[in-house]
Amino acid sequence: MSANSPAAVVVLAAGGGTRMKSNRLPKVLHEVCGRSLVGHAVAAAEELTPGQLVVVIGHMREKVAEHLAAHHPGARAVVQAEQNGTGHAVRTALEALAADGIELDGTVIVTTGDAPLLTGGTLRALAGAHAEQGNGVTVLTAVVPEPFGYGRILRDEADGAVAAIVEEKDASDAQRAIDEINSGVFAFDAKLLVGALAEVTTDNAQGEEYLTDTLEILRRAGHRVGAVVAADYRDILGINDRVQLAHARRLLNDRLLERAMRAGVTVVDPATTWFDVQVSYEPDAVVLPNTQLQGATHLGEGCEVGPNSTLKDTRIGSGARVSNTTADGAEVGELATAGPYAYLRPGARLARKAKVGTYVEVKNSELGEGAKVPHLSYIGDATIGEGTNVGAASVTVNYDGVNKHRTVIGAHCRTGSDNMFIAPVTIGDGAYTAAGSVITNDVPAGGLGVSRAQQRNIAGWVERKRPGTTSAQAAAAAAETGAEAPTEA
Ligand code: UD1
Ligand code: CA
Repeated sequence: MSANSPAAVVVLAAGGGTRMKSNRLPKVLHEVCGRSLVGHAVAAAEELTPGQLVVVIGHMREKVAEHLAAHHPGARAVVQAEQNGTGHAVRTALEALAADGIELDGTVIVTTGDAPLLTGGTLRALAGAHAEQGNGVTVLTAVVPEPFGYGRILRDEADGAVAAIVEEKDASDAQRAIDEINSGVFAFDAKLLVGALAEVTTDNAQGEEYLTDTLEILRRAGHRVGAVVAADYRDILGINDRVQLAHARRLLNDRLLERAMRAGVTVVDPATTWFDVQVSYEPDAVVLPNTQLQGATHLGEGCEVGPNSTLKDTRIGSGARVSNTTADGAEVGELATAGPYAYLRPGARLARKAKVGTYVEVKNSELGEGAKVPHLSYIGDATIGEGTNVGAASVTVNYDGVNKHRTVIGAHCRTGSDNMFIAPVTIGDGAYTAAGSVITNDVPAGGLGVSRAQQRNIAGWVERKRPGTTSAQAAAAAAETGAEAPTEA
């Protein structure tokens, strides 16, 4: 908490979210760009380093409390058992703090848990104006194209100051025509807030304690009531249903992509590219269409990812190329390549210039510098040394039905196509294995491991056993043109 930090931020997140039509998830736990709605509110609040960060929870409170404890341990959850209105919610929060001996002095920011586009910067601007103007309360407002459902801002005809907020359900037709609305975000003087909340009644259309009534109460008591109008009304958009959820996700994604592009990332098709809030990048990274970067994915300088890739919590090294790939918890080294059609699972680590090719799955395995697994393979629980090439269609047979075992392949090996490595097994440096081998025993450095049956041919088998087939006809024609008849091996 610094000198001009607020004493507290109170995030209101107890409401039901009926219009989400969800049986499983409270509204505030729905996600936008890799973060829950309440997580966005808390993250914006955290930027102000408040003395206290309180989240008022109610609906499906166990789930919300668990989520906060896991992802935002700095936030204090306060239960509002019955949702008797926004004023009641704030009163409940302040009473919980007081019960713990915390008396607030200074500014209290009240914000809402369902407005994921609201930034720390907007909250800071509100707090700044509030302090500068010496207001008792300052409300964040916006001029919106469709004010239906919002509380309307009533301004004094004489001086233009905010006089009151009237809810949709309590408004006259003339008031409903007003297009300046209450965002639900406020800066209050802590002491004045406590006093004003004590005077709020439930004498309104919804029978609730409205937080918004405190503005009129404070103004009548002679305190300054200020307003900050949001520069862009989309910053304050609240989520009530899944259509608005998708809309907010699109808007936030556009912001995240714009920030990346201004930092030197090429995004070929913003319409089909999705970034989570924690994604980071270096200049000259290129993102090809239909690509989703999730969690703490990082793009190194000059790498190229996509098209058609989903990368979660994955680090891509500089100059690496990853196409048509799904990755989760993987590391792709500098100048390494993955795909097309690679699946990199947790613990897949590709060193510099390593290659995981087409239809290859890698899990919990390291590929050394320049090591290659080019085609149709499964590499699980393995270590593959530098400069080694693993033949097409190879499998590290890591699972015996109960336990997992490691395969270790040394440096500069050449393993044959269609090998099964029955783990635990070790292939020494520089060793070769023959195509089609099932490798159950270790192969010493520089040795050749061969494990397959001898081939034998039975001459004339098709004409004898499959007479009249097209195969038999082809065999007969081959005999006539003098094609060499195979000899029995
Ligand atoms: C509220 C405002 C309205 C404003 C709008 C902005 C009031 C009376 N009205 O209306 O002026 O334009 O927000 O979106 O304040 N909540 C609780 N406990 C409660 C009630 C609500 O925690 O008892 C929380 C909700 O979870 C939500 C926020 O407060 O995050 C706003 O509640 P909501 O019911 O959505 O308020 P609106 O009717 O939309
Ligand atoms: Ca309501």
